[in-house]
Amino acid sequence: MPSLLTIEVSPRLESSTSRKLTALFVQEWRAANGDGRVVVRDLAKTVPPFVDAPWIGGAFTPPEQHSPESAAAIAISDDLVAELQAADHLVIGTPMYNFSIPASLKAWIDHVVRVGVTVSTANVGLLTGKKATVIIATGGDFGPGSPVEGYNLASGYLRQVLGWIGITDVRIVLAGRARAGGEGEMAVEQFGGDIRMAVAA
Ligand SMILES: Cc1cc2nc3c(=O)[nH]c(=O)nc-3n(C[C@H](O)[C@H](O)[C@H](O)COP(=O)(O)O)c2cc1C
Repeated sequence: MPSLLTIEVSPRLESSTSRKLTALFVQEWRAANGDGRVVVRDLAKTVPPFVDAPWIGGAFTPPEQHSPESAAAIAISDDLVAELQAADHLVIGTPMYNFSIPASLKAWIDHVVRVGVTVSTANVGLLTGKKATVIIATGGDFGPGSPVEGYNLASGYLRQVLGWIGITDVRIVLAGRARAGGEGEMAVEQFGGDIRMAVAA
């Protein structure tokens, strides 16, 4: 049974463009994978804790040496890693914040990039055989040919860090000028074709 892990990031909930696009992705994915399982990890509703000293102590020592604080910190990471390991397809729906990604998504990444767990000590990504779709809602237009195309640090970063843990089959849907319905802005449906292509790829 195919499995989809959906990472929601935007705190704007019902008003969010990226959430509308991930909902469209999930709808299309369900249509293509009838009996598939969809797991949602909502980083706005439960913000992952930032990496701290107990987390670092836990990530680089065997479990039998963990303090109670390290064990608790690593248990959160282990849960997030297990969700990702179980997924065949990962979809991340995120806004762009200050040319990059929101801190909550970075916190999730810091939990799932684990030496010896998702990337080997020889720097080989261990989460192979998965697909990922990254939907990035932005206020500006960072598409090909835009004079500010290079300002977009989110796409390259997410592609690189997913590749680092072995997820190299990545499609990025850049939903530029999708400011959730104001006058003159792109309708969310505008990106439906890109979403369908990402599901079919
Ligand atoms: C704190 C903050 C920072 C933002 N930074 C950028 C930015 O650097 N570039 C951009 O084009 N849009 C920026 N935006 C606009 C959002 O990326 C845009 O409105 C996006 O569609 C929001 O996605 P959402 O509706 O899913 O929350 C920013 C918005 C906020 C709240």
